[in-house]
Parts: sequence; structure tokens; C-alpha cells
Amino acid sequence: MSKKIFIKTFGCQMNEYDSNRIFDTVKEIGFAKTHNIDEANCYLLNTCHIRDKAKEKVYHEIGRVKKKFKSKQKPMVIVAGCVAQAENEEMLKREPYIDLVVGPQAYHKINNKIEEYLENQKRIEETEFDAISKFNFFENIKNSSQKISSFLTIQEGCDKFCHFCVVPYTRGPEYSRPFDKIMSEAKILANNGVKEIILLGQNVNAYRNENYRLSDLIIEIEKIPEILRIRYTTSHPRDMTDDLIETYSKSKKLMPLVHLPVQSGSNRVLELMNRKHIIEDYLKVYNKLKEINSSIKFSSDFIIGYPGENENDFYDTLNLIKRIKFINSYSFIFSPRPGTTASKLKLTDRKISLKRLETIQKELFSQQIKMNKSLENSIIDVLVENKTEEIGKFFGRSEYMTSVIFDANDDDVGKIVKVKINKSNQNTLFGEIIRNIKLKVA
Ligand code: SAM
Ligand code: SF4
Ligand code: F3S
Repeated sequence: MSKKIFIKTFGCQMNEYDSNRIFDTVKEIGFAKTHNIDEANCYLLNTCHIRDKAKEKVYHEIGRVKKKFKSKQKPMVIVAGCVAQAENEEMLKREPYIDLVVGPQAYHKINNKIEEYLENQKRIEETEFDAISKFNFFENIKNSSQKISSFLTIQEGCDKFCHFCVVPYTRGPEYSRPFDKIMSEAKILANNGVKEIILLGQNVNAYRNENYRLSDLIIEIEKIPEILRIRYTTSHPRDMTDDLIETYSKSKKLMPLVHLPVQSGSNRVLELMNRKHIIEDYLKVYNKLKEINSSIKFSSDFIIGYPGENENDFYDTLNLIKRIKFINSYSFIFSPRPGTTASKLKLTDRKISLKRLETIQKELFSQQIKMNKSLENSIIDVLVENKTEEIGKFFGRSEYMTSVIFDANDDDVGKIVKVKINKSNQNTLFGEIIRNIKLKVA
């Protein structure tokens, strides 16, 4: 019987990257990917533990698979990702339908574990932290991503232990991959037809390998002719070093959108969160970047209703948002994570948190709408990524990561084209390609 794997991914970009790398791996033992769950004989759920009822969501998802296969041969069920790491053998105890639990730093063992299970049908839990062996293993597995915009993990794990965050427990200690290995992978992606590389890390700007920093990687990737755009995410304000800031004046391919999570505009709350920086540090970074290139724009992450957040703290956050004019941000109510310091703290009243979230989002969304509206009737650069389902319409992204829908041809995919924006809404720009721009000669 042919082996078919169905992979479902929750969570951040790193999980997306991991799911692709897991597929590159299981291909070696004969698995083909299917997008039709009904024909799968292996089901892999790559999970996220960052907030809300993450764990329950996983069991609910497995329940749905169970129902689907009620009258059919059960697929092998694998749970990977951050919930797998956090819950480990508990998952096998609670849900007999799960066959293999594998943590994010043990993916190099996945083929052996699948084969072991298929041979003796004994359920397995594998959640050892071994990032070095994992990345060494993946160096010999070709990255098959052919997407115009592809992720490339350069750093993983975190040593910062913000009091609200589960990542140091699910991804383990900070680890940076060797510079030359990242460059080899970037070249493979370029040969696959990739045009934009998004460098990933839970603290991507903390990247350090020998004397190499993130800025060195950007400058080196810039030299690959096929790569047209470079981005990186997610950064911590404390690691926005001057060399990285200066890269914005040296690089022509580094995009002018800086995603820099601040979480709160109040120094008091930042201290309660153990963020280890103050708002004045954040503003210094903001000012330095704006001085280098005034067209740089910012996006951020906010946690609303953190334990101890009072009305004044909340207004500090709102005022920061008004001052920086973030163009695209994520904002969520604080969600206590098991095992973290903040999980033991007294929660802010739910109704108050909801009200604050609503106020913040109103401001953030109106900034986003204004930014998009300001682009109407102008011509912008768009990297064409793919066709949409609507005939003749294509999807691409602006330099600021905004989605753009426009008329184009198959030949335009993978190219940066000029698009005149005719219409916009909160999340999308709509326009048409301008093919022959007549430049005025002085
Ligand atoms: N390393 C990045 C940083 O330091 O800003 C953040 C990485 S974390 C995977 C992504 C985002 O999830 C955070 O920026 C934070 O806003 C959000 N987050 C993490 N833990 C959370 C929690 N317990 N409740 C609500 N949001 C949370
Ligand atoms: Fe989590 Fe980011 Fe803080 Fe690390 S720096 S603990 S990943 S929020
Ligand atoms: Fe979620 Fe783990 Fe990413 S908790 S956000 S999948 S690092």
C-alpha cells in the first residue's frame, strides 16, 4: 500500500517551516503528501501552545480524525510541535488514538520512530531537546520548498524567559545554526526558484554563530542574485543591535518593515513581564531606524490585560500605538500558560481586558486602513507569488508584506512588478500591473 501523509499545522511560521522539513524527511521513507485526509494512512498534527485552550484544541482535532476514520483502517497518528513537547507522555495516556508524540527538537528521529512504530505497533513518546543533532540531520535532507516566498530557520529556542511565555519550555535553549549551513540552504532555495527568504527564529536577531550575526547573514544572502527580497522574524527589542540597524542603509533587498514586538507601552508592565528593556530603549531603536530610512514602518505584538496592568498602563500602550503608527500588529488578551511564572498571578478582570483589547484593536485597525488607503492611486512594487482562484487574478505582497490582488500573467510569477493600487481594505490592496512606465527624463 502506498504511504500517504496528511499534515495539519497550527501556530507560528517556524511550525510551517518545520512541517515542510518533516515532509522532506518522511519522503525518504516513502511517504507522499496528500491534501485529502480521507486517503491518508498517516496523520500528523503540528501543534502550538502559545495561548488559549491549545491542549484542548489538539484533543478536539484528534477527535475529528477519529470520527472520520470510524469505519475505516485507522491512520498512524503523530502529534508534533509545542503541545507535544509540553504534554509529552500525558498525551499517550489521555488519548489512545495517538501513536507517536514528537517534540520540536527531536524531528531528526521521526523516520526511525515511524518505522519502529510500524514494525511493532508500540506507541512512542520522543521529546528530548537535541537541537544540534536535529539541524545536523536536516543539513543532509534537501529543503524542497519551491514557494516564491520561503522560510528559513536560522535560530531556535529562547533563553529570555518572559514571564508569560511558554517558548523556552517548548523549544528549549537558544541555538543558532552555523552560518555556512544556512547559506547552503539559502542557495538551495534560490535554485528551487525561491525569490524571497524569510529568516526565522524565536529570537531571530539574537542569532550568533562564531562572530557572525544576523546582519552578516542578510549581507551574504543579498549576494545571491536570484533572491530579490529578504525579511526576518521575530525580533526582540533588546537584540536590535547597531550592526543590524545599519544593515538597513547597506542592503537593497532587506524589506523596510520591522516586526518588533513590544507587548506593552508601560515600563511597569514590561518589568512585570520580565522583558528586560524599557520603552525608551524601544523608542531609541525606532528613532535610529527612522533616521536611516524614513520609509521604514513597524508592526508589533501586544499582550492586553497582563496581570497587574492598570488603566494608566493601558493608556501608555494606547499612546505608544498612536505615536509609532504600527501598520500591522497582533494583539491578544493574556493567556496563562502552564508552568510559566505569570500563570500563578491574579488575572485582570476579563471584561476589562476585553474592553481594552477592543480599544487597542480599533486604533490598530484604523492605522492599518489609513496606511492602505494612502496607497490608493499610487504605484508600488509587488513580488508576485501565485495565481488566485479567481481567473486572471494573482496574489503578491508589497514591501510592507501587505497582500495585493491584481491582474497579471503566469509569466509574472516570481517577479517584482509595478502595480497601480485602485482600491483597498483593512488587509488587502487591489490593483493592476503597469507594464510600461514612462520615466521622465530631466
Ligand atoms: N520572541 C518574540 C518576542 O520576544 O517578542 C515573541 C515570540 S511569541 C512566539 C509570539 C507572541 O505571542 C508574543 O510576542 C506575544 O505577544 C504572544 N504571547 C506569548 N505568550 C502569550 C501569552 N501567555 N498570552 C498571550 N499572548 C502571548
Ligand atoms: Fe517568549 Fe519571545 Fe520572551 Fe522568548 S523573548 S520568552 S520567545 S516572548
Ligand atoms: Fe506556538 Fe511553539 Fe510557535 S508555542 S507560536 S508553535 S514556537
